Amino acid sequence: MKITILSAFALALVVSGAASASAATTAPPLVSDVCSKCHGPDGDSQSPLFPRLAGQTAAYIKTQLESFRDHSRGDPHARAYMWGIAKPLSDDQIGQIAEYYASRKPGAAIAPTDAKLVAQGKQIFFNGDDKRDIPVCASCHGEQAQGNDSIPRLAGQQPDYLYQQLRAFRNGMRYNETMHANVQKMTNEEAAAVSQYLAAQ
Ligand code: HEC
Ligand code: HEC
Repeated sequence: MKITILSAFALALVVSGAASASAATTAPPLVSDVCSKCHGPDGDSQSPLFPRLAGQTAAYIKTQLESFRDHSRGDPHARAYMWGIAKPLSDDQIGQIAEYYASRKPGAAIAPTDAKLVAQGKQIFFNGDDKRDIPVCASCHGEQAQGNDSIPRLAGQQPDYLYQQLRAFRNGMRYNETMHANVQKMTNEEAAAVSQYLAAQ
């Protein structure tokens, strides 16, 4: 019985989402009914576990939802939280959701807890470390970490989330060739530093 009710709920979500081919300024029903529970009412999550989506680039949101749906993004939290949610999404819904979040104002900077770490993180972000094959992050993510097209915005993102992603890229749990190579030789301390810096932007 439970299963029937759940599938009816999932179907209702799919139908209501498909019906709203509206402008990016109105939240698609799925966003207000489902996504907002974790990612915040307007995608400006206040929880360290849930990434912010407000102001994220549309192309990046789209590729991530597709990779949750086809299971190519497989770090533990992707599996636990996003695989099930992304499963019933159609390409149209993904497109609408991505446009909607991209049109939102990014959340305010998150105050850092450790000024020394922030300074170290800034140094990594703008200079990398040539000797250890750590590239200049700003060269792809932008001087303001604002992102561009399929390269994500990192500014104002939840620091714990960023830290977990850097580790997941490093150990290959989240598969991405470019980012895997970029952080291969990064220490945990450096990952924490650059995460603190980025969250504070
Ligand atoms: C139960 C909580 C929960 C709900 C509901 C939820 N998410 Fe998520 N979402 C997460 C978590 C946790 C992550 C981080 C996954 C990881 O660490 O890999 C995430 C990650 C994402 C990402 C990747 C962000 C990035 O910076 O890479 C996108 C995009 C996303 N969610 C979109 C959505 C959309 C759209 C919905 C609604 C259809 C939704 N989420 C509903 C918990 C949730
Ligand atoms: C050559 C371009 C390039 C460089 C240089 C680069 N990145 Fe990335 N980064 C990417 C791309 C592309 C993605 C999206 C990967 C995906 O789709 O899974 C990404 C994703 C990320 C993410 C995941 C964001 C999220 O919302 O989940 C983090 C964190 C990140 N990069 C941090 C860094 C840091 C820190 C550096 C510097 C050490 C860096 N990147 C250097 C291209 C780059």
